[in-house]
This record gives sequence, structure tokens and C-alpha cells, in this order.
Amino acid sequence: MKVNGFFKDVTGASRVTKARHQLIESGNPENIYKDHIREVAQEVHPKVTHVKCAKVEDVSPTARKFTFVPTDGDVLPPFMAGQYASVELEIPGEDGKVTKTTRPFSISSAPFQARQGDKSFFELTIRNGKPGVGFVSSWMYANCKEGSTFTFHLPLGQFYYEPLRDAKKVVALAGGSGITPFYSMAQEIAHGTMDCDLTILYGSVSTKDIILEKQLSAIQSPRVRFVNVISGEPDYPGEKGFLNADLIRKYSEGDPADGNTTYFVCGPLPMYNFVNGELEKLNVPKRRIRMEVFGAPRDITKDPDYPKRDPAVYKLKVMRGLEETEIKASSLEPLAVAMERAGIPNPTRCRSGACGFCRCKLLKGDVFVPSVGDGRRYADKKFGYYHACSTYPLSDCAIKIEIC
Ligand SMILES: Cc1cc2nc3c(=O)[nH]c(=O)nc-3n(C[C@H](O)[C@H](O)[C@H](O)COP(=O)(O)OP(=O)(O)OC[C@H]3O[C@@H](n4cnc5c(N)ncnc54)[C@H](O)[C@@H]3O)c2cc1C
Ligand code: FES
Repeated sequence: MKVNGFFKDVTGASRVTKARHQLIESGNPENIYKDHIREVAQEVHPKVTHVKCAKVEDVSPTARKFTFVPTDGDVLPPFMAGQYASVELEIPGEDGKVTKTTRPFSISSAPFQARQGDKSFFELTIRNGKPGVGFVSSWMYANCKEGSTFTFHLPLGQFYYEPLRDAKKVVALAGGSGITPFYSMAQEIAHGTMDCDLTILYGSVSTKDIILEKQLSAIQSPRVRFVNVISGEPDYPGEKGFLNADLIRKYSEGDPADGNTTYFVCGPLPMYNFVNGELEKLNVPKRRIRMEVFGAPRDITKDPDYPKRDPAVYKLKVMRGLEETEIKASSLEPLAVAMERAGIPNPTRCRSGACGFCRCKLLKGDVFVPSVGDGRRYADKKFGYYHACSTYPLSDCAIKIEIC
């Protein structure tokens, strides 16, 4: 009986295999499975968007506006005013070695301008790239010309107005290139596709530092107000000084503590520290404050929590799948930059510790994460995961990264 059953199994298995082969032969080689939800998700959040530069325009002595249009076949995804885009770049160094990197830039044009059929575009406004100082900004200044092509990731970030959450009266506190998301919001309001009142308080040291002044002045209306605040010119006829509590109160709806105004803050790190203190003085409820991320600190050793150590170059072991590479990592740069310098692929988007794209696991070593750039989840902290763009080595280290 047992032997009979065995032969039955063997002949049965060969019949199934034959039937399977016949099915494969008669099948359609194309994947005809359609998932409409997935299709919409891909349209709204494409993996990449291919564009070409259509126009370059100076918008102040210190900033330049770049207009991008989709290259044939690509469509610009929808975004919210205030969100950012991350550009992929390959920058050749003096030694001829190419560094693959990314940089986030707030989209300075309005969402409606990206939804105009074959007239669709989006814009970035980039602050002065001084040669030898800004690595990417100076490269963009020198190389992004009409016709240059780029790969972007967009839309990204949570820095946008949400009517269900935010007060109808918005005061924007901007500094430097932090004006760009507010130009996007201002245009969207002027177009009638965003419903709030916006007052932009824009802090600059001197009048020549003001970015997009002509453009912002041109769209002023009862719903969009634009106020320059100049700190370094005593004779300036308008608002002078810093974005302090008195000034913020002056342009708010009633008492800032009442929660009738939402404050959007975007600018360099020192400005955040100052403005945060002023908003605290005014007892603004935390739910009424929205902060954009601001990138890695320029000088990590100035962080008040940074342990006092001399700059050093450490060994960093990077495990990526079955590959294991040992590279050099400066204590003054995040692990993500060390990997970029060594040509190890590691995805980045916000470069501010917020989005989690560059997540890695620390296997060995001592590192420093500035509290301002620590956007990790509780579980990640507990199980030793770090965001490589905001983690600095304090000793020889070993990390494990995802294959991208
Ligand atoms: C959400 C968000 C929105 C932003 N929006 C804007 C905007 O609208 N406009 C704007 O102007 N800026 C914006 N920024 C800032 C922008 O992303 C850049 O930080 C800024 O342009 C300066 O970049 P940079 O590369 O020129 O200078 P840095 O970022 O200061 O470049 C130096 C960095 O590159 C590294 N580096 C230097 N040389 C090399 C090399 N050879 N190989 C590898 N790495 C190297 C350095 O270690 C350092 O980390 C935004 C930032 C964020 C987070
Ligand atoms: S790139 Fe966003 S957390 Fe590192």
C-alpha cells in the first residue's frame, strides 16, 4: 500500500509540473495586475521627477531663482506651499573624483504653477554660493544653466499650512533663504487657492540681503503683507532690529498667547534659537508654532552639548549587504557626508535628521547627535538606530546601512 502511494505521489507531482509549465507558456509576459491606489500614490509621490532648467534669474545680489520644467514624459507631482524638493547631484572635485550628494531646497514657486498642463513649472531660489564655501550652492551657481537636466525627489516635508490645524491668521518669521517657502505660500494665497492671511516678517542684516523683494512686494494685498526688518542699517526707514517679541506682538492677531495666530518659522539655526525664546516670552501655545528643519549645524563644535574634543579623523566601518568598507570620517562632519566623500551610496533627503531616509544602525563606537537634529523615533533610539545626516563620530565606529 505504502509503495503504491509513493508512486501515486511521484506521477501526481510530474503531472502538476507539466500543467504548471503549460500555464507559464500560455501566460502573458506583461504584468497586467493593476492597483489603482498604488497608481495614484505613485503619481502623488513618484520615486523621482526628471526636469530641465528653463530659466535662471538673479532675485537679489545674493540669490538666484532657477525655474524647472518636466522633461518629456514626466509630470510634476502636486505639492503643498512650503514643502521642499531634494535634488540629486554628481559633483566632480578638484582631484576629478565625483561626489554623489543631495540637497534640500524649499520650492519657492506656488503649487498652482505646477498644475498648468504643458506650462507647468516649479522654482527654487538658492542663496549665494560663494566659491569654496557652499559646496552645492556654488556648484549650482556655476553649473545650473538653461537646458541642464536634474533628478529631483518631491514633494517632501511637513512645513505647510493645514486649515484643520492652523489658525487663519499666519505670521511668518523668516531669515535669509528661509523666505522661499513663504513666497510660495504668498503666491498661492494671491491666486485664491490657499485660504489664510499671511504676514511675513523678514529679517535681514542689510537691504542688499533681501531675497525676492520685488516679487513679494508685487503680490502684497490685504491678505498678504510683507515687512522687512533690517538689523544692520540704523537709518533704514522701516522696521529695524531683530524679530523680537514686541515686533511679533505688533503683527499678531490680538494677544499671541490666545492662539489666534499660527507662527511659521524658517531661517538659519541661530535665528531659531532667538525666535524660539521670543515666542516663549509671548506665551505662544506650542500648537501654534511650526518650524521648518534647517540642515546640519555649520559648526558642530558650537553646539552647547558637544563634548569638548579636538577635531579628529576616525575610522568608519560601513556594512552594506555583504560589503564591508572602511573609510575615514571627520569628527566635524556627519556620517552621511563621510560616506558621500568615500562614494558609498546612502540616501538622504532633508539632511537635517528629520525624514529618516539615511537611517543606519550603530554597531560600534561613540557618536554625537545634536538635539536640534534628532528626529528619531523612540524605538530607533532604544535599538541603536541613527540618522547618518545628523550623527557625528566621536571615536572609530561601525555602522550598518540599507542597500538603496
Ligand atoms: C528643508 C530645507 C529647505 C531649504 N531651502 C533652501 C532654499 O530655499 N534656498 C537655499 O539657498 N537654501 C535652502 N536650504 C539650505 C540648502 O539645503 C543648503 O544647505 C545650502 O544651499 C548650502 O549648501 P552648500 O552645499 O552650498 O553648503 P553646505 O551645506 O554648508 O556644504 C557644505 C557641506 O558639504 C560638505 N562638503 C564640502 N565639500 C565636500 C566634498 N568635496 N564632498 C562631499 N561633501 C562635501 C561639507 O562637509 C558640508 O557638510 C534648505 C535646507 C533645508 C533643510
Ligand atoms: S536625510 Fe533626512 S534624516 Fe537624514
